[in-house]
Amino acid sequence: MQRIAVIPGDGIGREVTAAAHTVLDAVAARHRLDLAYDEFDWSCERYTTEGAMMPPDGVDRLRPYDAILLGAVGWPGVPDHVSLWGLLIPIRRAFRQYVNLRPIRTFAGVASPLRDAASVDFVVVRENVEGEYSEIGGRLNRGFPDEFAVQESVFTRTGVTRIVDYALELARARRGYLTSATKSNGIVHTLVFWDEVVAERAAQTPDVRWDAEHIDALAAKLVLQPQRFDVIVASNLFGDILSDLAAAVAGSIGIAPSANLDPTRTHPSMFEPVHGSAPDIAGQGVANPVGAVWSAAMMLDHLGHPAAAADVQAAIEACLADPGTRTRDLGGTADTAGVVRALVAHLGG
Ligand code: NAD
Ligand code: IPM
Ligand code: MN
Repeated sequence: MQRIAVIPGDGIGREVTAAAHTVLDAVAARHRLDLAYDEFDWSCERYTTEGAMMPPDGVDRLRPYDAILLGAVGWPGVPDHVSLWGLLIPIRRAFRQYVNLRPIRTFAGVASPLRDAASVDFVVVRENVEGEYSEIGGRLNRGFPDEFAVQESVFTRTGVTRIVDYALELARARRGYLTSATKSNGIVHTLVFWDEVVAERAAQTPDVRWDAEHIDALAAKLVLQPQRFDVIVASNLFGDILSDLAAAVAGSIGIAPSANLDPTRTHPSMFEPVHGSAPDIAGQGVANPVGAVWSAAMMLDHLGHPAAAADVQAAIEACLADPGTRTRDLGGTADTAGVVRALVAHLGG
């Protein structure tokens, strides 16, 4: 038996996690998978009633699980820095989920805002535990004219090496082309260091071609020539921005998945859609569940069930190709429940 911790979180996180769970049940029945779930109500609602996003031993409670499925965290009324530092970020860090894998691809039936975005297929490999998201710094002199905020970026040789090595390996298994997102024109010291490590590691992997692109130019190229990318390795903040940009290029942030991986498999990895809790559409039953369902497929792959993952992927493709089962963000009229019914039907449920 494999045990999965489910944290639906806030807003549409709850709706899309329930959807993913239903699809997982359908694919598990078809492939005779033995998956057991425990649900955790850790959320902004919990913060409001109990004063904390999760219990003090929350991370330890998750430790025995084989994987974590998360919806989204954050809700108006609870400051984002409270909800995110109280739940999402500690899990990524405690479990050394240093790879945030974010595949982007176009689908038949999903219109891109770009004129020509056919056959886009690349992966953002985002560094997930250090970089710009550091705990070093803070706000000082609050309320005085000389008030200021400072946050150090932390790039360690270990941290940069392992993310670059992961990206090189992935590029080798794909089309053999790596792009490093940087800003190395000497201004940002941390990224000059990043570039040196990338160059050193890439030299050890001669069968992967690689380029460094400044983040500003890279953002433009992702819009103008998205087809040319294969694997993009990026720091925590750059990877965050590029992944929403890339998801939009492919049609909608509602379909983009992510895997927060501990590649050493010492700790559980966590699977969640790229999007957030979407307070603007929460509670209406119209959220696109595909990002969460695709994340669940990545989880199945990680748990050693590639055939089940491929079936979920095929169900997603069939569903997106049918105008009757596309949600509003994709220009359709289907609701979340309608998409789930179609996915389950494709899986023979
Ligand atoms: P968001 O991703 O929640 O929403 C951005 C826009 O995309 C909204 O218009 C929303 O309606 C739309 N959208 C997002 N997901 C969709 C889906 N599945 N189907 C259809 N439309 C969808 O980003 P935001 O508004 O910047 O953030 C809202 C809250 O979520 C904040 O509290 C933020 O901190 C949090 N957040 C959490 C995570 C996470 O837990 N991993 C990720 C991003 C944002
Ligand atoms: C994401 C989110 C988070 C991040 C936020 C909510 C902290 O935007 O998973 O992409 O920046 O990592
Ligand atoms: Mn993000």
